[in-house]
Amino acid sequence: MIRYSQHHFKYIQCIYVCVFVCVHLTSGNSCCCSFEDYKLTTEWLLNQTSHRPKVAVICGSGLGLLADGAANKQIFRYQDIPNFPVSTVQGHEGCLVFGTIEDTPCVFMQGHFHLYEGYSLCKVTFPVRIFKLMGVETLLVTNASGGICPDFKVGDIMIIKDHINLPGFAGQHPLCGPNDERFGIRFPCMSDAYSKDLRRVALDIGSELGCSDFIREGVYCMVSGPNFETIAEARMLLILGCDSVGMSTVPEVTVAKHCGLRVIGLSLITNKVSLDYSREEKVNHDEVLEIGKMRAEVLQKLVTTLISRCQQQSINTH
Ligand code: HPA
Repeated sequence: MIRYSQHHFKYIQCIYVCVFVCVHLTSGNSCCCSFEDYKLTTEWLLNQTSHRPKVAVICGSGLGLLADGAANKQIFRYQDIPNFPVSTVQGHEGCLVFGTIEDTPCVFMQGHFHLYEGYSLCKVTFPVRIFKLMGVETLLVTNASGGICPDFKVGDIMIIKDHINLPGFAGQHPLCGPNDERFGIRFPCMSDAYSKDLRRVALDIGSELGCSDFIREGVYCMVSGPNFETIAEARMLLILGCDSVGMSTVPEVTVAKHCGLRVIGLSLITNKVSLDYSREEKVNHDEVLEIGKMRAEVLQKLVTTLISRCQQQSINTH
C-alpha cells in the first residue's frame, strides 16, 4: 500500500488548485458560441422583421433613449431572442429596436452586456456578429465614462480616437480561442479601429450643432469593473495615455473590427475620475445616469445626424 505523507497531500492539493484555476480561466476565455448559434439567431431575427439594418447603435448606460428618434420601430426583448444574453444592470433596458433614421435602416441595442455581470466576452460581443450576419456595415457605440484627462469636464462628449484593452492584456479578450475565418482573420489590425472618416464627420456635425465647446477626441480605456477606480489606478491610467475610463465597448469594437465593420464611438463624460487624495466627491452610478439624461437631447441629435451621414458616406465610398 502506498503511504502518503503530509508533503504529498500538499502537492496534490496544489495540482488540484492549478487545474481548477486553469479550467476556469480558459473556460471564461474562449468562445462559447458556435457559428450555428450565430446563424440561428440571425435567421430568427430575419424571419421576424422586414428591417434590414445598415447601421447598428449600442446605447450606453442611461443612453437608451437614443432609439426614440427612429421611425417604424419594431422592438424585441432580449429574453425573447434565441441565444441572446439578458442585461442585469439598472439603466440598461434590454431591447433590440429596429427602425429607420431618415431612410437609413438601423438597429439599436437598448442595454448591453458587461464583463462584470459575469458574461463571457463571447456573450458580451454576441450581438455584434449577429449584426454583421444581418448585413450591418457600421457600428456606432456610445458609452458613459469617467474623465481622466484633467481638461475634460462632466458633460463633455468624447469622440473615441483609440482604446486601451486593459482586460485584453490579462487574457480577457473576445478573440481568444479558435479563430473562425468566416468572421475575420486570426491577427486583425487594431491600429485603425475607429474610422478616421467618421470621426471627422462627427467633429463637423458637432460644430454645426454648436457643440464644439464640449466635443473632444481621446483615448478610452476599458477596465473590467464593477468598482470605480482607486486613485492610484486612475493615476496609472493617466500615465498610460488614457483620456477616459469605462467598463464596456472595447470587446464589441474589437469583434466589430475583426469582422470588417466600420466603427465610430462616442463617450459621454459623466464624472471626473479622482486623481487627488484630497478630493472629497465620490462617483456613483446614479450620477452616471443623471448626466446621461442631461445630455440626452444633444446626443440624440448628434447620433441621428451621424447615422444619416454614415450612410451617405458609405454610398459615396462604394
Ligand atoms: N470609471 C469606470 N467606468 C465608468 C466611470 C468611471 O469613472 N464613469 C462611468 N463609467
